[in-house]
Amino acid sequence: MKISVIGAGNVGATCAQRVAEKELANEVVLVDIIDGVPQGKGLDMWESAPVEGFDTRIIGTNGYEETKDSSVVIITAGLARKPGMSRDDLRDSNAGIVKGISEQVAKYSPNAKVILVTNPLDVMTYVAFKTTGFKPQNVFGQAGVLDTARYRTFLSMELGISVRDIQAMVLGGHGDDMVPLLSYTTVSGIPITQLVPQERLDEIVDRTRKGGGEIVKYLKTGSAYYAPSAAAVEMAEAVVRDKKRLLPCSAWLTGEFGIKDTYAGVPVILGKDGVEKIVEIELSNNEKAMLNASANSVKENIAQLNI
Ligand code: NAI
Ligand code: 2OP
Repeated sequence: MKISVIGAGNVGATCAQRVAEKELANEVVLVDIIDGVPQGKGLDMWESAPVEGFDTRIIGTNGYEETKDSSVVIITAGLARKPGMSRDDLRDSNAGIVKGISEQVAKYSPNAKVILVTNPLDVMTYVAFKTTGFKPQNVFGQAGVLDTARYRTFLSMELGISVRDIQAMVLGGHGDDMVPLLSYTTVSGIPITQLVPQERLDEIVDRTRKGGGEIVKYLKTGSAYYAPSAAAVEMAEAVVRDKKRLLPCSAWLTGEFGIKDTYAGVPVILGKDGVEKIVEIELSNNEKAMLNASANSVKENIAQLNI
């Protein structure tokens, strides 16, 4: 079992470390265009194995030979946001990068499940889908797991209750118009609206939507990577361990929720066959309208792609 991580920057390197520490694969291949960086980070990580007690091998490289026959490829390569930039500002430069990488993935790992992280997430997932020519269930994007994790963390801070007991889901595109679903947010089954006043919930939803920007403002030179890498690796784990997790992921829609011909974050079952099912839950009219608006903005962005 081999997992490749493309891009050895903040998100990619942290993904590789998490995959190794969880022993999700026998081998992690870390690829980057900068000579020495994936090799150095990979070796450094491997040298932590005796202390952390894992047997996963970590190979750093600037090429794709070593990625051959990967079961899962996580694509994190590209530019990250700086203060004042939206995720969409990254579109054109990152589309070229993701296209080039996707060609290599298709060549060396034709049976891989491909998890996109590069922003703007839903648009880059489309670029990888189109370039690899893979079936849509094999190409999906990480956004909803992160956005939901942020939402659950903020609710946990508000209530002083363990994050484990907070169930929630954030749908839509990975942008400021994402859709946290209040109607599906519970604390051990108790509707969140019984525990938190509406005006505080509105503030928490707003903070969730702007959660990526909040970290960018603190870091100043880049964007979040601890929570994003945890989210991407949770998805990889669902695939390699065939966990049949029900997670919000960016998936190719063909009419589900009344949306077609675009990627957007929806509840899916993730297992060894990738997106094994899109779960069409009931939404209120307001939630439906927000999900449609968010998916439409992804669609407009896809239409402006120049690849
Ligand atoms: P980073 O700048 O730390 O790392 C990016 C790495 O990509 C660099 O090491 C760079 O050399 C490498 N790279 C560039 N072109 C490449 C190519 N053609 N082949 C291989 N490697 C290449 O950035 P960071 O923080 O790791 O973020 C990476 C991407 O992930 C950004 O687009 C960022 O916006 C996105 N992101 C998405 C999230 C999500 O929830 N979907 C969350 C966090 C980040
Ligand atoms: C985030 O949400 C930048 O998309 C990235 O942190």
